[in-house]
Amino acid sequence: MTKQLCKVDFSRVAWKSVEWTHLVTLYLRACESRLPRPILGDHAAAEAVDRIDYDFSRMHKAAQPWSNQYLVAMRARTLDDWAADFLRRNPNAVVLHLGCGMDTRAFRLDVPAGVDWFDVDQPDVIDLRRNLYEDGDGYRMIGSSVTDAGWLEQIPTGRPVLVVGEGLLPYLTERQVWELLERLTDRFRGGELLFDTLSPIAPRLSLLFTGGIIKWGIRDAREIETWNPRLRFLEQSSALVAFERIQETPQRRLFRVLNATPVRNYDVLNRFAF
Ligand SMILES: C[S@@+](CC[C@H](N)C(=O)[O-])C[C@H]1O[C@@H](n2cnc3c(N)ncnc32)[C@H](O)[C@@H]1O
Repeated sequence: MTKQLCKVDFSRVAWKSVEWTHLVTLYLRACESRLPRPILGDHAAAEAVDRIDYDFSRMHKAAQPWSNQYLVAMRARTLDDWAADFLRRNPNAVVLHLGCGMDTRAFRLDVPAGVDWFDVDQPDVIDLRRNLYEDGDGYRMIGSSVTDAGWLEQIPTGRPVLVVGEGLLPYLTERQVWELLERLTDRFRGGELLFDTLSPIAPRLSLLFTGGIIKWGIRDAREIETWNPRLRFLEQSSALVAFERIQETPQRRLFRVLNATPVRNYDVLNRFAF
Protein backbone atom coordinates (compact mmCIF):
# COMPACT_ATOMS: atom_id res chain seq x y z
CA MET A 1 0.00 0.00 0.00
CA THR A 2 3.03 2.30 0.17
CA LYS A 3 3.67 4.20 -3.04
CA GLN A 4 7.21 3.96 -4.32
CA LEU A 5 7.71 7.51 -5.53
CA CYS A 6 10.17 10.34 -5.21
CA LYS A 7 9.80 13.19 -2.69
CA VAL A 8 6.30 14.59 -2.31
CA ASP A 9 5.67 18.27 -1.76
CA PHE A 10 3.63 19.12 1.37
CA SER A 11 4.55 22.82 1.40
CA ARG A 12 0.94 23.85 0.77
CA VAL A 13 -0.11 22.72 4.25
CA ALA A 14 -0.78 26.01 6.05
CA TRP A 15 1.31 26.54 9.20
CA LYS A 16 -0.73 25.91 12.39
CA SER A 17 -3.92 25.03 10.47
CA VAL A 18 -6.02 22.05 11.62
CA GLU A 19 -4.59 20.04 8.69
CA TRP A 20 -1.04 20.94 9.79
CA THR A 21 -1.59 19.05 13.06
CA HIS A 22 -1.35 15.70 11.24
CA LEU A 23 2.17 16.63 10.14
CA VAL A 24 3.10 17.41 13.75
CA THR A 25 1.92 14.02 15.01
CA LEU A 26 3.55 12.24 12.06
CA TYR A 27 6.84 14.03 12.70
CA LEU A 28 6.73 13.23 16.43
CA ARG A 29 6.06 9.53 15.75
CA ALA A 30 8.94 9.52 13.28
CA CYS A 31 11.26 11.04 15.92
CA GLU A 32 10.10 8.51 18.50
CA SER A 33 10.75 5.61 16.14
CA ARG A 34 14.41 6.67 15.99
CA LEU A 35 14.93 6.34 19.77
CA PRO A 36 17.05 3.35 20.83
CA ARG A 37 14.08 1.71 22.60
CA PRO A 38 10.84 3.32 21.40
CA ILE A 39 7.38 2.73 22.87
CA LEU A 40 5.59 2.80 19.52
CA GLY A 41 8.44 2.43 17.01
CA ASP A 42 6.43 3.70 14.04
CA HIS A 43 9.10 3.19 11.36
CA ALA A 44 6.55 3.78 8.59
CA ALA A 45 6.15 7.32 9.97
CA ALA A 46 9.91 7.85 9.67
CA GLU A 47 9.85 6.56 6.09
CA ALA A 48 6.96 8.94 5.29
CA VAL A 49 8.81 11.93 6.76
CA ASP A 50 11.87 11.03 4.67
CA ARG A 51 9.69 11.14 1.56
CA ILE A 52 7.93 14.44 2.36
CA ASP A 53 9.32 17.72 1.13
CA TYR A 54 8.57 20.12 3.99
CA ASP A 55 10.43 22.48 6.30
CA PHE A 56 10.89 19.93 9.08
CA SER A 57 13.57 22.04 10.80
CA ARG A 58 10.90 24.69 11.48
CA MET A 59 8.53 21.90 12.48
CA HIS A 60 11.17 20.54 14.89
CA LYS A 61 11.18 23.80 16.85
CA ALA A 62 7.37 23.97 17.00
CA ALA A 63 6.75 20.30 17.81
CA GLN A 64 9.27 20.00 20.69
CA PRO A 65 10.02 16.30 20.28
CA TRP A 66 12.13 16.18 23.46
CA SER A 67 8.91 15.66 25.41
CA ASN A 68 6.05 15.55 22.89
CA GLN A 69 7.28 12.49 20.97
CA TYR A 70 6.48 10.47 24.10
CA LEU A 71 2.98 11.94 24.38
CA VAL A 72 1.97 10.91 20.85
CA ALA A 73 3.67 7.53 21.22
CA MET A 74 1.95 6.72 24.54
CA ARG A 75 -1.43 7.77 23.17
CA ALA A 76 -1.04 5.78 19.95
CA ARG A 77 0.29 2.73 21.82
CA THR A 78 -2.77 2.47 24.06
CA LEU A 79 -5.14 2.96 21.11
CA ASP A 80 -3.17 0.39 19.07
CA ASP A 81 -3.46 -2.11 21.94
CA TRP A 82 -7.23 -1.58 22.21
CA ALA A 83 -7.66 -1.78 18.43
CA ALA A 84 -5.56 -4.98 18.21
CA ASP A 85 -7.67 -6.54 20.96
CA PHE A 86 -10.87 -5.74 19.02
CA LEU A 87 -9.46 -7.09 15.75
CA ARG A 88 -8.35 -10.33 17.44
CA ARG A 89 -11.95 -10.87 18.59
CA ASN A 90 -13.49 -9.63 15.30
CA PRO A 91 -11.31 -10.72 12.35
CA ASN A 92 -14.10 -9.76 9.90
CA ALA A 93 -14.49 -6.21 11.24
CA VAL A 94 -14.87 -2.94 9.40
CA VAL A 95 -12.49 -0.25 10.70
CA LEU A 96 -13.24 3.45 10.41
CA HIS A 97 -10.09 5.39 11.19
CA LEU A 98 -11.41 8.95 11.38
CA GLY A 99 -9.15 11.99 11.11
CA CYS A 100 -6.38 9.61 10.05
CA GLY A 101 -4.03 12.33 8.75
CA MET A 102 -0.82 10.54 7.68
CA ASP A 103 -1.12 7.98 10.45
CA THR A 104 0.11 4.48 9.65
CA ARG A 105 -2.08 2.48 12.06
CA ALA A 106 -3.47 0.41 9.16
CA PHE A 107 0.10 -0.75 8.42
CA ARG A 108 1.39 -0.85 12.03
CA LEU A 109 -1.20 -3.31 13.29
CA ASP A 110 -1.40 -6.95 12.36
CA VAL A 111 -4.72 -6.54 10.51
CA PRO A 112 -6.56 -9.83 9.79
CA ALA A 113 -7.18 -10.53 6.09
CA GLY A 114 -10.97 -10.37 6.60
CA VAL A 115 -10.90 -6.75 7.79
CA ASP A 116 -11.94 -3.80 5.62
CA TRP A 117 -10.11 -0.67 6.74
CA PHE A 118 -11.21 2.87 5.82
CA ASP A 119 -8.93 5.85 6.50
CA VAL A 120 -11.03 9.03 6.50
CA ASP A 121 -9.96 12.67 6.62
CA GLN A 122 -10.70 16.00 4.95
CA PRO A 123 -10.43 15.89 1.11
CA ASP A 124 -7.23 18.01 1.04
CA VAL A 125 -5.56 15.74 3.57
CA ILE A 126 -6.53 12.56 1.70
CA ASP A 127 -5.20 14.16 -1.52
CA LEU A 128 -1.83 14.54 0.21
CA ARG A 129 -2.05 11.06 1.71
CA ARG A 130 -2.58 9.54 -1.74
CA ASN A 131 0.94 10.71 -2.61
CA LEU A 132 2.29 8.36 0.04
CA TYR A 133 -0.14 5.43 0.02
CA GLU A 134 -2.62 3.85 -2.31
CA ASP A 135 -5.86 1.93 -1.89
CA GLY A 136 -5.47 -1.85 -1.93
CA ASP A 137 -7.12 -5.08 -0.86
CA GLY A 138 -9.10 -4.31 2.29
CA TYR A 139 -7.76 -0.75 2.49
CA ARG A 140 -9.43 2.45 1.24
CA MET A 141 -9.05 6.16 1.83
CA ILE A 142 -12.07 8.48 1.85
CA GLY A 143 -11.72 12.24 1.51
CA SER A 144 -14.60 13.80 3.43
CA SER A 145 -15.27 15.75 6.56
CA VAL A 146 -16.54 13.33 9.19
CA THR A 147 -19.25 15.92 9.85
CA ASP A 148 -20.79 15.22 6.41
CA ALA A 149 -23.37 12.46 6.35
CA GLY A 150 -22.73 11.06 2.84
CA TRP A 151 -19.41 9.23 3.30
CA LEU A 152 -20.96 6.66 5.62
CA GLU A 153 -23.00 5.29 2.72
CA GLN A 154 -19.76 3.88 1.26
CA ILE A 155 -19.17 1.72 4.33
CA PRO A 156 -20.52 -1.86 4.47
CA THR A 157 -22.89 -2.66 7.32
CA GLY A 158 -23.78 -5.94 9.01
CA ARG A 159 -20.29 -6.54 10.43
CA PRO A 160 -18.67 -5.48 13.72
CA VAL A 161 -17.27 -1.94 13.45
CA LEU A 162 -14.23 -0.43 15.09
CA VAL A 163 -14.17 3.37 15.02
CA VAL A 164 -10.91 5.09 15.98
CA GLY A 165 -10.62 8.87 16.29
CA GLU A 166 -7.20 9.87 17.57
CA GLY A 167 -6.66 13.61 18.01
CA LEU A 168 -9.88 14.29 16.07
CA LEU A 169 -12.91 15.09 18.22
CA PRO A 170 -11.37 18.20 19.88
CA TYR A 171 -11.41 19.87 16.42
CA LEU A 172 -15.19 19.44 16.16
CA THR A 173 -17.86 21.38 18.01
CA GLU A 174 -19.82 19.57 20.70
CA ARG A 175 -22.86 19.50 18.39
CA GLN A 176 -20.76 17.93 15.59
CA VAL A 177 -19.42 15.28 17.99
CA TRP A 178 -22.94 14.50 19.16
CA GLU A 179 -24.24 14.20 15.56
CA LEU A 180 -21.30 12.04 14.45
CA LEU A 181 -21.85 9.60 17.30
CA GLU A 182 -25.57 9.45 16.49
CA ARG A 183 -24.86 8.72 12.83
CA LEU A 184 -22.39 5.96 13.71
CA THR A 185 -24.69 4.20 16.15
CA ASP A 186 -27.66 4.61 13.77
CA ARG A 187 -25.81 3.03 10.86
CA PHE A 188 -23.98 0.12 12.49
CA ARG A 189 -25.33 -2.67 14.62
CA GLY A 190 -22.43 -2.92 17.03
CA GLY A 191 -18.76 -2.45 17.70
CA GLU A 192 -16.35 -0.26 19.62
CA LEU A 193 -15.44 3.39 19.57
CA LEU A 194 -11.94 4.51 20.62
CA PHE A 195 -11.13 8.20 20.89
CA ASP A 196 -9.31 10.73 22.98
CA THR A 197 -10.89 13.76 24.58
CA LEU A 198 -9.32 16.93 25.93
CA SER A 199 -10.16 18.83 29.09
CA PRO A 200 -12.60 21.80 28.83
CA ILE A 201 -9.60 24.06 29.34
CA ALA A 202 -8.15 23.03 25.94
CA PRO A 203 -10.43 25.23 23.75
CA ARG A 204 -9.60 28.22 25.99
CA LEU A 205 -5.86 27.57 25.75
CA SER A 206 -6.26 27.13 22.00
CA LEU A 207 -7.81 30.61 21.71
CA LEU A 208 -4.66 31.98 23.33
CA PHE A 209 -2.00 29.88 21.61
CA THR A 210 -3.29 28.11 18.47
CA GLY A 211 -5.89 30.45 16.99
CA GLY A 212 -8.86 28.60 18.47
CA ILE A 213 -8.52 25.46 16.32
CA ILE A 214 -9.56 23.29 19.29
CA LYS A 215 -13.30 23.61 19.71
CA TRP A 216 -14.40 21.00 22.21
CA GLY A 217 -13.37 19.68 25.59
CA ILE A 218 -15.16 17.58 28.18
CA ARG A 219 -14.45 17.02 31.86
CA ASP A 220 -15.34 13.33 31.81
CA ALA A 221 -16.23 11.52 28.58
CA ARG A 222 -18.41 9.06 30.51
CA GLU A 223 -21.03 11.83 30.20
CA ILE A 224 -21.37 10.77 26.54
CA GLU A 225 -23.44 7.78 27.70
CA THR A 226 -26.15 10.25 28.68
CA TRP A 227 -26.08 11.87 25.20
CA ASN A 228 -26.41 8.59 23.39
CA PRO A 229 -27.87 5.66 25.36
CA ARG A 230 -26.62 3.16 22.75
CA LEU A 231 -23.03 3.90 23.80
CA ARG A 232 -21.73 1.91 26.76
CA PHE A 233 -18.62 3.10 28.55
CA LEU A 234 -15.93 0.40 28.78
CA GLU A 235 -12.77 2.08 30.06
CA GLN A 236 -10.65 5.20 29.99
CA SER A 237 -7.08 6.08 30.84
CA SER A 238 -4.85 9.08 30.77
CA ALA A 239 -2.72 9.40 27.65
CA LEU A 240 0.21 9.49 30.12
CA VAL A 241 -0.52 6.07 31.57
CA ALA A 242 2.29 4.34 29.68
CA PHE A 243 5.04 6.59 31.13
CA GLU A 244 6.81 3.62 32.80
CA ARG A 245 7.67 2.39 29.29
CA ILE A 246 9.80 5.48 28.57
CA GLN A 247 13.44 4.38 28.62
CA GLU A 248 14.99 7.87 28.84
CA THR A 249 15.23 8.78 32.53
CA PRO A 250 14.60 12.58 32.49
CA GLN A 251 11.45 12.23 30.40
CA ARG A 252 10.19 9.22 32.37
CA ARG A 253 10.59 11.24 35.58
CA LEU A 254 8.84 14.24 34.00
CA PHE A 255 5.83 12.17 32.92
CA ARG A 256 5.71 10.31 36.26
CA VAL A 257 5.39 13.69 38.01
CA LEU A 258 2.79 14.95 35.50
CA ASN A 259 0.83 11.72 35.87
CA ALA A 260 0.58 12.38 39.61
CA THR A 261 -1.04 15.81 39.00
CA PRO A 262 -4.35 16.91 37.41
CA VAL A 263 -2.41 17.23 34.11
CA ARG A 264 -3.09 13.50 33.68
CA ASN A 265 -6.73 14.45 32.96
CA TYR A 266 -5.83 16.77 30.07
CA ASP A 267 -5.83 14.14 27.28
CA VAL A 268 -7.88 11.04 28.11
CA LEU A 269 -8.32 7.90 26.01
CA ASN A 270 -11.83 6.45 25.98
CA ARG A 271 -13.26 3.13 24.94
CA PHE A 272 -16.99 2.66 24.36
CA ALA A 273 -19.06 -0.24 23.03
CA PHE A 274 -22.33 -0.01 21.12
C1 LIG B 1 -4.03 16.05 15.35
S1 LIG B 1 -4.33 15.46 13.72
C2 LIG B 1 -4.37 13.74 14.08
C3 LIG B 1 -4.08 12.92 12.86
C4 LIG B 1 -3.92 11.42 13.15
N1 LIG B 1 -5.06 10.86 13.81
C5 LIG B 1 -2.68 11.22 13.99
O1 LIG B 1 -2.81 10.84 15.18
O2 LIG B 1 -1.60 11.44 13.45
C6 LIG B 1 -6.05 15.86 13.48
C7 LIG B 1 -6.62 15.33 12.19
O3 LIG B 1 -8.04 15.48 12.23
C8 LIG B 1 -8.45 15.85 10.94
N2 LIG B 1 -9.76 16.50 11.01
C9 LIG B 1 -10.10 17.60 11.69
N3 LIG B 1 -11.40 17.90 11.48
C10 LIG B 1 -11.87 16.94 10.64
C11 LIG B 1 -13.14 16.68 10.05
N4 LIG B 1 -14.18 17.49 10.28
N5 LIG B 1 -13.26 15.61 9.25
C12 LIG B 1 -12.22 14.78 9.01
N6 LIG B 1 -11.00 14.96 9.56
C13 LIG B 1 -10.83 16.04 10.35
C14 LIG B 1 -7.36 16.82 10.47
O4 LIG B 1 -7.40 17.02 9.07
C15 LIG B 1 -6.13 16.08 10.95
O5 LIG B 1 -5.66 15.17 10.01
